[in-house]
Amino acid sequence: MKHSICSIYDGLKLRPVYESDLELLRTWRNDQQLTKYLTKIPHITQEMQRSWFVKNQIDTGCYTFAIERIGEVSSHENFIGSVSLYNINGDTAEFGRAIIGNDSARGKGFGFLATVLLLNLGFSYFGLRKITASVHEDNISAIKAYEKAGFTVCGKHAHPSGGCELEIAVEKAEFYDKIGFLRQIIIHNPATVDDVKLLQFQNFGNALGNLVVIDGNDGQPDRNLPFEIKRIFYIYGTPADVTRGQHANRFSEFCFINICGTTKVNVADTSGQNKTFVLNSPQEGLYIPKMLWKDMYDFSENSVLLVLSDKYYNAAEYIRNFDEFLGAKNVL
Ligand SMILES: CC(C)(COP(=O)(O)OP(=O)(O)OC[C@H]1O[C@@H](n2cnc3c(N)ncnc32)[C@H](O)[C@@H]1OP(=O)(O)O)[C@@H](O)C(=O)NCCC(=O)NCCS
Repeated sequence: MKHSICSIYDGLKLRPVYESDLELLRTWRNDQQLTKYLTKIPHITQEMQRSWFVKNQIDTGCYTFAIERIGEVSSHENFIGSVSLYNINGDTAEFGRAIIGNDSARGKGFGFLATVLLLNLGFSYFGLRKITASVHEDNISAIKAYEKAGFTVCGKHAHPSGGCELEIAVEKAEFYDKIGFLRQIIIHNPATVDDVKLLQFQNFGNALGNLVVIDGNDGQPDRNLPFEIKRIFYIYGTPADVTRGQHANRFSEFCFINICGTTKVNVADTSGQNKTFVLNSPQEGLYIPKMLWKDMYDFSENSVLLVLSDKYYNAAEYIRNFDEFLGAKNVL
């Protein structure tokens, strides 16, 4: 599934797989020695790798993560492997396809740590109760890493290419008992342009005129805004050739409503994707989560752009340099 989830602990990060990772992933997956205990697949061409990526982005039962070292490593050495949570079904899922592809990174504890980070995401973020996996009985480093993370053996079956595969499983309670540093793991899920939503507000008008109501969210059902309103401001009289915004907010969420006239809003996320919206209806609100870049432009002469926010003004939360904004994905 396409996602933006990151999890970080002690110099290691799980993050989404980017298109720029595909060639290295392909090299590792085509390495016969490295993948001798993984499911056998034919030689992967660039087209096959790309089509795997496209399918993986829409598979709602599978989340694949790149394993990345952070801190004192050069950038060509930081992407070291990948791992997946797949067959997600209710409160269970399978862990697997783990690979530390970078030769110099194997045997340094990263396989174990990546396992812990993914199990923690599975239990605390995806709300799973039990995670299963299979591992070849001769794959000593994998067995050691998985057992240290809380997996125990519950069965075995023959492996198609010889020997046996151990069936292993871990439940949430056992995992939390076993791993002591869980509270220090940081999970971060930055918003993407797909999280920007056009909200429709009902018009309660009659022959006397129009009436549109917006209820800030206080947790009660049927509120039509996703947040509580702390601040309201409006923009009008902006010349048509001016672009406003040009910043991202680290903490504030917004709803933009063009109560009169027309305005365009372009929103970009930290992975560089962007989307443009035309706001021209007082019954329509554009919900923009935190940490998205915003540009407002093509204001009509009569444009009045009303903005609702869930936070009071704080100059320190504004990122006004686009490169710094894009770079934020590397430190989150
Ligand atoms: C399996 C794999 C993911 C483990 O990652 P890793 O970073 O190399 O493993 P770690 O450094 O976390 O080590 C885990 C344990 O195995 C031990 N270990 C590491 N390399 C070993 C080796 N060559 N022989 C024996 N034990 C080894 C470590 O000492 C550690 O045990 P310990 O905590 O008791 O000391 C990695 O080796 C790999 O990608 N292998 C190829 C692909 C693969 O087989 N994937 C698993 C599919 S189920």
